[in-house]
Amino acid sequence: MAGMHVTLRQLQVFEAVARLGSFSRAAEELHVTQPTVSKQIRLLNEAIGLPLFEQIGKKIYLTEAGEQLRATCGDWLDTWGRFEQSIADLNGLRQGRLKIAAVTTTQFFMPRVLGPFCAEYPNIDIAMAVINRDSLLERLSRNEDDLYIMGVPPDGRDIVSEPLLENPLVIIAAADHPLARRKRVPFSQLGKEGFILRERGSGTRITMERLFAQKNTALNVKMELGSNEAIKQAVAGGLGLAVLSRSTLHLNAATDGLAVLDVQGFPLKRHWHVVRPRGKQLSVVARTFLEFLHSHAQMLAPRR
Ligand code: PGA
Repeated sequence: MAGMHVTLRQLQVFEAVARLGSFSRAAEELHVTQPTVSKQIRLLNEAIGLPLFEQIGKKIYLTEAGEQLRATCGDWLDTWGRFEQSIADLNGLRQGRLKIAAVTTTQFFMPRVLGPFCAEYPNIDIAMAVINRDSLLERLSRNEDDLYIMGVPPDGRDIVSEPLLENPLVIIAAADHPLARRKRVPFSQLGKEGFILRERGSGTRITMERLFAQKNTALNVKMELGSNEAIKQAVAGGLGLAVLSRSTLHLNAATDGLAVLDVQGFPLKRHWHVVRPRGKQLSVVARTFLEFLHSHAQMLAPRR
């Protein structure tokens, strides 16, 4: 059978008439005249070789051929619509916008990824919020960003979460702390030490609190400080120990006057995850960045 010469426009007109049950309402919706609609349908009938509608009294009905065409083009027009959208988005790649929210522990790593990404896509505007876990979850619930990078994804089925990179937790002390020289310090020993904790709502803190509870070890809180950097200074100053993401430390902790303790069960293995609300239609820019993240993360992570 020779191919039918059907145009996209004819199918769009047909779909509107079939859905609205009226030539005049289809004309209205498509912002064309009724004779234009009639003409497109006549050409379509001719191309297909069978009538698509029949008129009984004032009403029009789909014929068998019409029903089949409607079933066929319903999905197809949807697919086409998505295609048009992604082409528009692709044009947007030259001039898109990307909004990311990332937890504080990624503050050294994420900007390193943004550099080469911006070099490749120079006209994409990027805004990245660097905040703690709770603030990030609030933004997630308001659907404010394209992607979210975090250490402790929430439970539940309304998000999609993909592991990105290792984000282990370590225990630090001042470089001259007596535990700094010991090997394989038992976890229970930590019950005798004072700790400096991140603020409530921090993923680092949640992980740490869960761990102490699980090990039935008392957590002796010396102080609460709202930033990883401030905690490092306080620990170096001898105020107590702290549990921090290793990514917040220099490759050589001694640079900051710190020691990473050799405690049983540490470094505690964790990952950063890329999270988004389930069902969110990612823009082409966001999808491109997500692929970029996965393909470059390993390479851009600091070597240990
Ligand atoms: P945060 O980081 O402590 O800044 O919330 C979270 C994490 O690394 O899990």
